[in-house]
This record gives sequence, structure tokens and C-alpha cells, in this order.
Amino acid sequence: MIDRESPTAIRLDSVTKAYAGSCAVSAMTLEVQRGEQVCLLGPSGAGKTTLLRLMAGMVEPSSGGITVFGTPLQDIRRGPELASVVGMMQQQLDLVPQLAVRHNIEAGLLGRWSTWRAVAGLLLPVQSHAAASAARRVGLEDKFFTRVDRLSGGEQQRVALARLLVQDPAILLVDEPVASLDPELATDLLSLLRDLTIETNKTLVASLHSPEFATNFFERVIGLRNGRIEFDLPSSKVSRRRLDALYQLNGRASGPESVSMTETAG
Ligand SMILES: Nc1ncnc2c1ncn2[C@@H]1O[C@H](COP(=O)(O)OP(=O)(O)O)[C@@H](O)[C@H]1O
Ligand SMILES: [Mg+2]
Repeated sequence: MIDRESPTAIRLDSVTKAYAGSCAVSAMTLEVQRGEQVCLLGPSGAGKTTLLRLMAGMVEPSSGGITVFGTPLQDIRRGPELASVVGMMQQQLDLVPQLAVRHNIEAGLLGRWSTWRAVAGLLLPVQSHAAASAARRVGLEDKFFTRVDRLSGGEQQRVALARLLVQDPAILLVDEPVASLDPELATDLLSLLRDLTIETNKTLVASLHSPEFATNFFERVIGLRNGRIEFDLPSSKVSRRRLDALYQLNGRASGPESVSMTETAG
């Protein structure tokens, strides 16, 4: 039995994910407590997507262990059991553009099945009231029967978020939810994500590449670079200098001496 009241939602113990010759994630150890809202911040290639996919059970670590609410991730059965614990909103959203908002949201009921399998699942009886209430919560009730390819980018992000709400996992993993939105829409979406996480008593791990959004919307920021944790701090303690170091171009000074002068651990 997975204990969703366990205080530690996710634990990574020296997790490495290697791809031919390089490590997307290197010997990473971290814990996320239940109810926390954590941002993974870092430049492209830092390992954010890989880390989220590891937490979602979508890719297996090359070495090291991951537990979710104290249960080893590999022991959790794929399908509805895993879908009730972790759910991921991928950057490319995985919506079916030709289908109505309603059907895309209902796909959340089918958990982690592939999108096309979920489309086949439309033949099954579904709980439309759950989809309608999720649509209302993300402000899309007027678009419930509209095809997704007629929606703006911001609206499509909301459809994907509503689908995740219908899936109702304890842990929300959200990859670059605002990468394609203008600042105003990005602010709206991040506020919504934050409010929903609190209202539904969930744990949130999201990735962003914008330091401003990370520190404004999240209580804890983990800076990633080259598959490693450069810092893991309350957002109020993330200094300009840390951010500059995180985003230094390769080949320029970004060694520990440039980022560890003032802050002390703990
Ligand atoms: N499926 C894959 N096959 C090979 N290399 C990969 C794969 N996924 C990620 N990588 C590599 O791992 C590193 C981290 O990628 P990623 O996790 O996508 O970072 P981010 O999301 O921060 O941009 C990159 O160098 C990327 O090229
Ligand atoms: Mg990514």
C-alpha cells in the first residue's frame, strides 16, 4: 500500500541517468516533502525533463533509487496505480488537436495510457462531470466542446492542466508549462498551478527556465546544470550571482568558488 500521508513525497538516492556517453542526470540525491512546491531551474540541457521523467517512472535510472511516499518507484504497478501517485504534464502537452476539449480532458481518466489508446478509450463510459468541473476550474467551461486545434497556446496549456486534474495524482510533475506563453499568460498559468496545488493538497515539481518566474512562484528552487544540482534553496535566498553562475556559457567560469562565497548550507 502506498502511504500518501508519508511526509516525504519523492526521494532520489544517487540517481544517474546516462545516455550514450553522457549523463543527463548525475548521482543526484534529493527529497521533496509532501505539499511542497518545487521549481527545477536551469538552462536547456541541464537535465530538467529527464529528472521529471525519472520521477514520473517514465524512464528508469541507470543507477540509484527513487521512492515515492516511501515505496520504490519500480515496485508501483504501471497503469492506474502509478497514475494515482504521479502525473506528468509534458512540454509538448500530448493533446489530440482534432478532438474537443472535453475528450482531451477525459483522457486524464485513463491515466498514463498513451494518447492514442486514450482515444480508443472514448468508447468506454467516462465521468464527464469530472471533466466539466476541471474545465470550469481552469476557466475553459465556455470551450468545453471546442476542438483543441481552435484554441490559443495558453488555452491548450489549460486543457493539459485540466486533464492532469482529472487524473488526480498526488504528485504533479509539470515540464516547462509556460515556455511558449507571453509573460501575462505565463503569470496566469503559474498562479493557477500554484492555487490548484494548494487547494487539492498536492505536491508540485515544475521545471522552468526563467529565474524570475521560478523565484516569484515557488518556495523552493533547485538550480540544475549539466545534470547536477548547483543549488537547492528557498527562493528568497537565490541570489543574482547564483543565477548568473547557473546560466554561464560553457567554458566560462562557473566553478564552485563563484557561487559558494556567501551562502551557508541549511
Ligand atoms: N532520450 C535521450 N537520448 C539521448 N540523450 C538525451 C535524451 N534525453 C535527454 N538527453 C540528453 O540529456 C541532457 C539533458 O536533457 P534534458 O533532460 O532534456 O534537459 P532540459 O530539459 O533541462 O533541457 C541533454 O544533453 C540531452 O541531449
Ligand atoms: Mg526540457
